[in-house]
Amino acid sequence: MQIERGVSLKPYNSFGLPAVAGTLVRVASDADVRRVVDHPQLGTAPKFVLGGGSNIILTRDMPQLVVKVEVRGIRLVEERADAWIVEAGAGEPWHAFVAHTLAQGWPGLENLALIPGTVGAAPVQNIGAYGVELKDRFESLDAVDLVTGRMSTLRAGLCGFGYRDSVFKHSLANRTVITRVRFRLPRPWRPVLGYLDLERKIAETGIRAPNAQQVADWVCAIRRAKLPDPALLGNAGSFFKNPVVTPEQCRDIIGRDPEVVHYPLPDGSIKLAAGWMIDACGWKGKSVGQAGVYERQALVLVNRGGAIGSEVMLLAGAIQESVYGRFGIRLEPEPLVV
Ligand code: EPU
Repeated sequence: MQIERGVSLKPYNSFGLPAVAGTLVRVASDADVRRVVDHPQLGTAPKFVLGGGSNIILTRDMPQLVVKVEVRGIRLVEERADAWIVEAGAGEPWHAFVAHTLAQGWPGLENLALIPGTVGAAPVQNIGAYGVELKDRFESLDAVDLVTGRMSTLRAGLCGFGYRDSVFKHSLANRTVITRVRFRLPRPWRPVLGYLDLERKIAETGIRAPNAQQVADWVCAIRRAKLPDPALLGNAGSFFKNPVVTPEQCRDIIGRDPEVVHYPLPDGSIKLAAGWMIDACGWKGKSVGQAGVYERQALVLVNRGGAIGSEVMLLAGAIQESVYGRFGIRLEPEPLVV
């Protein structure tokens, strides 16, 4: 365990926002987390758990102890008739992990290719893309309690997974450090190709029965065309969640805006495309200071160079106001605002 003081968090958040951590510790194992818990000063300090920093908006310096999770390692835990069970350290970069599973012949995570961030952050917001969510491939995770130092293994039932949501955003936020995640990759593998952008790829290429690597390549191509690479243009992926409304609310909106992009959900509610609504309000390419709305996907806010957290939040507030004014819908930020 390393203890560092006065650490700039700019390189550790994909939006590239400036903020300083008074104290930062890097934990590479469960034992490291217990060392923090048992430490005479650090043990009692309020804590902030940092993964890949790809889903946070930093608006101020961090008085809390920042615990940076750097647990590594990938292994096949079990090869069952109905699934591969694969485990990864929470500090493994997500995309490299997905690529590794595909190279090893353990398909199932291909729709989640190229998502920024770490393995440990994936369950926190139940990452999802192109018809697959983390919870669909989740087996269990190990977490160490930041108060007691005790390690426990949580299965899905205890994780409270929802749309971009889990118990780790609520009651267990900054209370526990996820150290390892296990995935259940079903056998036989079946591609998930129902998402419109993937159907277009099938039509374009004429490949009706792609293998997992082909699906991953398509997903990467779709993402590269729509989403900015955080290494080149700071961002935190989708800035708002897609709002879920009742069929009545949806009918009301369609009455005024017949074009609104919407998807019925299995429980009868309707998900609206926030990106479409923001776009319809004319925000694409607009900026507040150095914080801007991405030209190719209005749901993504970007750092045009040197943006600060307050600019991002001003821009976000203005977008929320105009979407509310036109559609009567309150957009909820997707990343954690700190
Ligand atoms: N749209 C517009 N204008 C825009 C943006 C979108 O008209 O500026 C329309 C699109 O044409 C499309 C619809 O809105 O008809 C939805 O857009 P898209 O397919 O790009 O997906 P999204 O709803 O914007 C969600 C996730 C993404 C995920 C994609 C693919 C959320 C908040 N976002 O985006 O996740 O990659 O679907 O599954 O659920 C993330 O969470 O950070 C993220 C990038």
